[in-house]
Amino acid sequence: MAPKGSGSTEMKAPDILYVGIDLGTLRSAVAASNGQRHWVYSFVGWPKDFVARKVLGKSIVFGEEAINNRLSVDLVRPLASGVIREGTQRDQEAVRQLVLHLFEHVQPAKGQEIRAAVGVPAEALKVNKEATILAVGECADRTVVVSEPFAVAYKLGALNNACIIDIGAGTIDFCVMHGVTPEDEDQRTLLSAGDYVDRQLYDLLREAHPNARFSETMVRQLKEQHGRVGNVKGRVKVKVPVAAKFVQHDLTREVTQACESLVSPIADTLIDLIKRYEPSFQQLVRKNIFLAGGGSQIKGIAEGLTEALADHGTFRVQAVEDPLFIGADGALELAMDMPSERWENL
Ligand SMILES: Nc1ncnc2c1ncn2[C@@H]1O[C@H](COP(=O)(O)OP(=O)(O)OP(=O)(O)O)[C@@H](O)[C@H]1O
Ligand SMILES: [Mg+2]
Repeated sequence: MAPKGSGSTEMKAPDILYVGIDLGTLRSAVAASNGQRHWVYSFVGWPKDFVARKVLGKSIVFGEEAINNRLSVDLVRPLASGVIREGTQRDQEAVRQLVLHLFEHVQPAKGQEIRAAVGVPAEALKVNKEATILAVGECADRTVVVSEPFAVAYKLGALNNACIIDIGAGTIDFCVMHGVTPEDEDQRTLLSAGDYVDRQLYDLLREAHPNARFSETMVRQLKEQHGRVGNVKGRVKVKVPVAAKFVQHDLTREVTQACESLVSPIADTLIDLIKRYEPSFQQLVRKNIFLAGGGSQIKGIAEGLTEALADHGTFRVQAVEDPLFIGADGALELAMDMPSERWENL
């Protein structure tokens, strides 16, 4: 039981379990106040028939297991732009199952009240908050939706004079922090992110190497291992299937070109966003640009962006550590600090 008294005493009561969730287009993560943490690729698979069910030994699979068994399951990647896509019941059910799966790793104690903060892309707050709350609301007693880059800012403690750029799979989310909870006008979302780079890279590779075979997964992994912007040392040399053998290819140009396609849109959006603030504040923000999300791990991207922004002044851009969990960790910290009256209306 929470001792009677102030709100802050109540928040520390052991009968409340706080949970932070980052629902991502490609990867979803959960972090809880009891120390549990887990992440999963945001894929759900249902066995196609009784044989597949027998082979898999279960009626539903998640993440990598779903991807690896894609021939024997109906594979669903239900999150687009980080929120439940308008449309099929199957998508809605897949998100529900994904959320249930994440909560399975949270392991609440019996009778614990669960309060979950869920990170979604900034723009989604306007359009699809309800669907997200419904899915999470099944597992949690109280739910609040927060913007993903705000959660990242919170974890970093970058609450003033800073800008977070979260480079995900479906979206790039921007959030300017000026010492208060950010509003819509402090945030932007670009719909070309990691998936877009993968499509560019796939097209470039097909064009340059028509005899080689590339799959979607291969292309994404190629980018994750070798993604680069600018003149990074070393060449990207990988073995790729051609007819029945693996043949070494130098893919430096294609990988670099595909990754660099992100740089100008990010620079343009950042300038467009921060120019709305007064010049002295802009000056401070320029020194505190943080890159988060899986795309922040592209080699040389912070330097590439700094260079692309050079015409607009001197910027200091840095990538965060642990981009995989920072959104869930930040949502968890927000949940723990959130005053009671904010739970329904952030
Ligand atoms: N080491 C890496 N180098 C380059 N890109 C990477 C790396 N690791 C992951 N990525 C890319 O980052 C993207 C996934 O990032 P993240 O997990 O932050 O996205 P998400 O939260 O699932 O998507 P969104 O926020 O758009 O819903 C993918 O495009 C993935 O291929
Ligand atoms: Mg994300």
